[in-house]
Amino acid sequence: MKGKDMTTSRHVSTHEFRATLRHYPTGVALITSRDEERAPVGLVVGSFTAVSLDPLLVGFLADHSSTTWPHIRRAGRFCVNVLGSHQESVCRAFTTKDPTRFDRLVDADVRQDPHLEGAIMWIDCQIETVLEVGDHDFVVGAVRDVRLADEPNAPLVFVRGGYAEPRSTETRTGHCHVAADRSLTA
Ligand SMILES: Cc1cc2nc3c(=O)[nH]c(=O)nc-3n(C[C@H](O)[C@H](O)[C@H](O)COP(=O)(O)O)c2cc1C
Repeated sequence: MKGKDMTTSRHVSTHEFRATLRHYPTGVALITSRDEERAPVGLVVGSFTAVSLDPLLVGFLADHSSTTWPHIRRAGRFCVNVLGSHQESVCRAFTTKDPTRFDRLVDADVRQDPHLEGAIMWIDCQIETVLEVGDHDFVVGAVRDVRLADEPNAPLVFVRGGYAEPRSTETRTGHCHVAADRSLTA
């Protein structure tokens, strides 16, 4: 932005914002929890992120229009199920409200949140903070447990309005050594 006056901002339409941001890739996670009757609920998000190492915190953004988020909020806890590239149908089932979508959840113990079979990882959380940001709530969860699949599949990626699978899970530059001890992901 060299030479531009950063004190003023150009009007950016919602259309332009979306048309640009759709090129930014995200992973896909199913946030599971329970409603007041202890029945399973699930919300697909692309906004899941690690937030803090000390204390261990993760987060996601819940749209104010979501009908699932109020249940998760009331429950006060959730499980993050990170989808593998083989789980596009799970994502579609939960966004289109397929009546059989809950069949894919392991729901053995009402003291826990339901877990999605075949996910790459499961992160059990207690809601720590909810921050209202624009038309979303930023939900921050304190990590109570994490589990990685024995043989984690490649992650499901959402980009340009569609689903993709990384061609290889081998990273091009290997491990990142820059401040790895303070990095959330290295
Ligand atoms: C790839 C993908 C990413 C999404 N990310 C989010 C998200 O981060 N937050 C959110 O609230 N909804 C997100 N959605 C939309 C919800 O999954 C969808 O609107 C869902 O049906 C919510 O509606 P409900 O809670 O009323 O069932 C995403 C959908 C897709 C397909």
